[in-house]
Amino acid sequence: MNFDKTILVTGGAGFIGSHVIRLLVNKYPNYKIVNLDKLTYAGNLENLTDVENADNYSFVKACITDADQMDKVFDQYKPDGVIHLAAESHVDRSISDPMSFIKTNIVGTVNLLNAARKSWDGNFDGKLFYHVSTDEVYGTLGETGLFTEETPYDPRSPYSSSKASSDHLVRAYFHTYGLPVVISNCSNNYGPNQFPEKLIPLFVNNIKNNKPLPVYGDGKYTRDWLWVMDHATAIDVIYHKGKLGDTYNIGGENEWTNMDLIHLMIEITDKQLGREPGTSKSLITYVKDRAGHDRRYAIDSAKLMRELGWKPTLQTQEGMEKTVAWYLENEKWMENVTSGNYQKYYEQQYTNRV
Ligand code: NAD
Ligand code: TYD
Repeated sequence: MNFDKTILVTGGAGFIGSHVIRLLVNKYPNYKIVNLDKLTYAGNLENLTDVENADNYSFVKACITDADQMDKVFDQYKPDGVIHLAAESHVDRSISDPMSFIKTNIVGTVNLLNAARKSWDGNFDGKLFYHVSTDEVYGTLGETGLFTEETPYDPRSPYSSSKASSDHLVRAYFHTYGLPVVISNCSNNYGPNQFPEKLIPLFVNNIKNNKPLPVYGDGKYTRDWLWVMDHATAIDVIYHKGKLGDTYNIGGENEWTNMDLIHLMIEITDKQLGREPGTSKSLITYVKDRAGHDRRYAIDSAKLMRELGWKPTLQTQEGMEKTVAWYLENEKWMENVTSGNYQKYYEQQYTNRV
């Protein structure tokens, strides 16, 4: 079959990547979508069972830290575009093991940039390297203000520092080698298929199992939450219409303190479990704070809305109801991802804190 173009999506078996793959495979039958993923603890092909047999989809198991492998993948698939999501993504893990973040997020990104540069060999017509990044590169906000595309980088965790480094390197390849690139920096995502080390799936699962809900510090940290499908549609729009060399901030205009969000989660989860709403408040347990915990993130997405016409679609109440329902209904998925190595991580992460 002949396709109009081939897009290599890295990290497509992860949380956001799987939603991006599903959107692209279904929306663009004329594109070949190649999912490159190492399948770390966070990568799960069960996230993609509904599209795995599509004619325009292929999966390749490879590690972005292996430069030779990246060259081979480019030789074999000759992608016109890359949407790069593969990363180590959890702040707490970056605190206990920074080196794996340096290897995957920095070295891995440079390996992909080099492979693209070699493969495209100066013929950049119709080519694009799209780097997916985070708002955490901007550091932390006080009580007011928003991160704009002009906010100076000030990352504070090994995770955000490694993502900031990769953003700088992507821009360096644009300026130095003329590689066609675009970058987006997004706020916290929520929705189905997120690994339950992150706040929302962890807490829904703990409420269900009557386990403690470990609140870091005073719980007054603020995040700007975006429905994961809204991130996927933003990536689609930016891939097709974004200006080369530009950065786009993506956010939900949806700030919540952790405690307010936790109360909403408890209310919705209790209701869906048939418990009196609020019963699970007794599970709230304040634990030692995360080291270097960023106080507040909030994104100004005006540029993306104004220039490319994107906007978030889902309000939190509805998004959280759908999210909670998904985790409660997909028991098998939850069981599969919380068995084995994850159990060990959970014990290490929380034994001394709760
Ligand atoms: P995730 O941890 O759920 O998924 C990461 C995926 O990358 C997994 O499938 C994993 O197997 C794969 N991967 C990891 N190391 C790899 C390697 N060495 N080689 C190949 N594949 C590898 O992460 P996510 O939450 O889906 O985040 C995806 C991207 O979006 C990341 O770049 C992250 O920085 C960024 N981001 C995430 C959020 C968020 O709220 N989750 C917000 C903004 C930006
Ligand atoms: P997280 O989902 O890890 O995203 P990020 O740190 O990238 O924003 O955490 C979201 C917020 O929830 C953050 O302020 C840390 C807090 N948190 C807890 O209070 N307890 C937990 O067990 C976890 C995982 C997070």
